[in-house]
Amino acid sequence: MAHSSDFPGARLGGFPTIRLRRLRHHPRVRHLIRETTLTGENLILPLFVRPGRGIRKEIASMPGNYQLSIDCLVEEVGAALDLGVHSFLLFGIPTHKDAAGSSALDPEGIVQQALRALRKQYGDRALLITDECFCEYTDHGHCGVLTKATGRLDLDNDATLPLLAQQCVSHAQAGADLMAPSGMLDGMVGAIRSALDTAGFSHIPIMSYSAKYASGFYGPFREAAESPPQFGDRSSYQMDPANSDEALREVELDLAEGADIIMVKPALAYLDIIRRVKDRFGVPVAAYNVSGEFAMVKAAAQKGWIDERRIVLEILTSIKRAGADMIVTYFARDVVQWLQ
Ligand code: PBG
Repeated sequence: MAHSSDFPGARLGGFPTIRLRRLRHHPRVRHLIRETTLTGENLILPLFVRPGRGIRKEIASMPGNYQLSIDCLVEEVGAALDLGVHSFLLFGIPTHKDAAGSSALDPEGIVQQALRALRKQYGDRALLITDECFCEYTDHGHCGVLTKATGRLDLDNDATLPLLAQQCVSHAQAGADLMAPSGMLDGMVGAIRSALDTAGFSHIPIMSYSAKYASGFYGPFREAAESPPQFGDRSSYQMDPANSDEALREVELDLAEGADIIMVKPALAYLDIIRRVKDRFGVPVAAYNVSGEFAMVKAAAQKGWIDERRIVLEILTSIKRAGADMIVTYFARDVVQWLQ
């Protein structure tokens, strides 16, 4: 009997019959076999709105990003729409902060006013997503009301839930298309879902920040949103960066409560989490390329140490390759221009 290596096809098992470089030779073939494509349709641009008129205040650690008064926000969204960015995630910086973050629920609150202005100007052209959380509205900077019931000053989970639900209903009434609760409270998706349904908004989806880590990468954002915690940190509600199985439990619970899209945040240091979530659940996944990830690239680019465009496209492609269907990124405007 002939030895298997005597057959003419035996070398099909490997080199030199198989040469993976063959598919890299012709540029058109490289394009044919590309597995991951970045498009503007999958990008979401975060924007910060504040009271006043004619205000366009650059955020020092996030060059090219501004705190905008509503008139300037309307212009900014118009310019982004013209470039090809269609989805926006709104954060509000209110005039007034208190212990309960009550201005978040005000029908005349900053985000509610911004939603109405944008809806009036752009109708359905702009997809308006709202961050649903209290850290921008509370004077202590935590993501809801506080309690000392356990002997340790901490976020009062169950007392915050109805407030969060009210905030969402108020944003839906003002014209929001999609809710993005970011507070990492137990039961938040269920509370929001039932409040929206009761108020006649059963068609509005929830994009839950299900696996949100207690991360140093949010530093520049907290300057942007004027929302740093005034004491302690967010480790009693946001996740430990060391954990991965726990992220799957968070996602599973949010899906059971009715989450439509699952967010993993930050993105770059958590690509493994994105991949696990996608593989395990097969649901729409969003990743948030957060402020610190943006600032690092910007700073290095300004020093001339890296090629910004190349690095940004590589980072965002890697986030998609890891399993994200959509990416929240401060680079959205640049990227749609680069992709043209
Ligand atoms: C909370 C919220 C934060 C971010 C988005 N939503 C900050 C936090 O949890 O401290 C961070 C986004 C970023 O860093 O770009 N409302």
